[in-house]
Amino acid sequence: MDISIIGAGHVGLVTGACFADLGNQVLMVDHDRARIAKLKRGVMPFYEPGLEELVRRGMAERRLRFTASVRDGVEHGLIVFICVGTPSRPNGDADLSAVEHVCHQVAKALRTYRLIVEKSTVPVETGEWIKRTMRLAVPRKVPFDVASNPEFLREGSAIHDFMQPDRIVLGVESARAKSLLAELYKPLTTSLVITDVKSAELIKHASNSFLALKISFINAVAQLCDRVGANVVKVAEGMGLDRRIGRSFLDAGVGYGGSCFPKDVAAFIRIAEKLGYDFELLKAVVRVNQDQRQVFVKRITQALWNVSNKTIGVLGLAFKPNTDDLRAAPSIDIIRLLQQEGARIRAFDPKALAQANGLFQGVTFCKDVYETARGADCLAVLTEWNEFKELDFARIKTLMRQPVIVDGRNLYDPAALQRLGFRYVGTGCGHAAR
Ligand code: UGA
Repeated sequence: MDISIIGAGHVGLVTGACFADLGNQVLMVDHDRARIAKLKRGVMPFYEPGLEELVRRGMAERRLRFTASVRDGVEHGLIVFICVGTPSRPNGDADLSAVEHVCHQVAKALRTYRLIVEKSTVPVETGEWIKRTMRLAVPRKVPFDVASNPEFLREGSAIHDFMQPDRIVLGVESARAKSLLAELYKPLTTSLVITDVKSAELIKHASNSFLALKISFINAVAQLCDRVGANVVKVAEGMGLDRRIGRSFLDAGVGYGGSCFPKDVAAFIRIAEKLGYDFELLKAVVRVNQDQRQVFVKRITQALWNVSNKTIGVLGLAFKPNTDDLRAAPSIDIIRLLQQEGARIRAFDPKALAQANGLFQGVTFCKDVYETARGADCLAVLTEWNEFKELDFARIKTLMRQPVIVDGRNLYDPAALQRLGFRYVGTGCGHAAR
């Protein structure tokens, strides 16, 4: 099929590259000419495992092309996906001005039937606004449909999530829209949830908010574990084996971050508020998540007695492994709080150092874990990168000023580290109580 994708960000580019790989003719559109020029040379705007290979293959096989022109996009694609950004406003509202702008451009370029699909994460009723806005701007009553097809891609495993989805949600209002999207997704064998546009929009916000809720729930349980000397990893295992609960997203840690959960939970609270419902449950989710950063800093303070003038080696800056994304990363708040206490920070991240350079002040960036440990009074683990899992701790101990590890991701075996002479503080593992 001929499809166009407007917005070559994380969602758009992954979606476009995957659809091209499935044999479709894909035209990617982005108003950022520099980004388009780089993509044409095979240079990715961000790190996502496997994406570069997929894009280059699509280009080599002439199924994936790039342009800065929405007009070309509308001409090419029978299905036009809108994947532009919907950032947060200070009050939590999603800023939909980019979506509106694209709608005007698409409408003006419409010459024959097109299916317009919103894939950006948007508040419920955005589909209605898209339809209304386009109707006013479309020349000569050209027919079109608007559908919602939310994405459920995680950064770091986005290609896997696209190719092997748990479900595909299609919010459609006509038989034509339904059959076009069903045809496009035919190669991916999974459950199709076919519904109206508003329900599809709600599925996205409700799913992300529910996952955030699971994380805050287990982080709250971790607080209790720390107070009584229980182990949250075991509690999560015991809960998770109940199929009604499930084990995933029950890893206690430094709280969720990234470009999705913080923004989407805030937006869902605002959507509810505007509809006259006080979503108190989600407000508590946000509160627990924010507290989690402070709790982590407190663990470090308790382990070191005084933080002032001590050196903290931070392992991991990205909001999660396999990405260089620092948006709303817990590392930002945690490093700021530690610096406010007078700590010196050394830090290492396998992929996010280039992005981190402009973002953090007064941080010494290191080339690896061992360099980070040199002279440190404490190692603070913020991201569960695979390469942090197997380390030469005997060597690390000789490099550090004090052998203290505060583990925000429960990566290590406490007993093994204690045997080596480390003071080890995990998350919800009861060590804070001792
Ligand atoms: C999330 C959703 O998982 C995707 O389904 C969705 O498509 C995407 O948002 C989006 O809306 O675009 P993502 O933000 O890439 O994906 O990352 P997640 O893997 O969901 O992790 C989010 C945060 O939660 C990370 O900071 C992670 O460290 C944290 N987390 C996750 C925990 O603290 N504990 C867990 O058990 C799981």
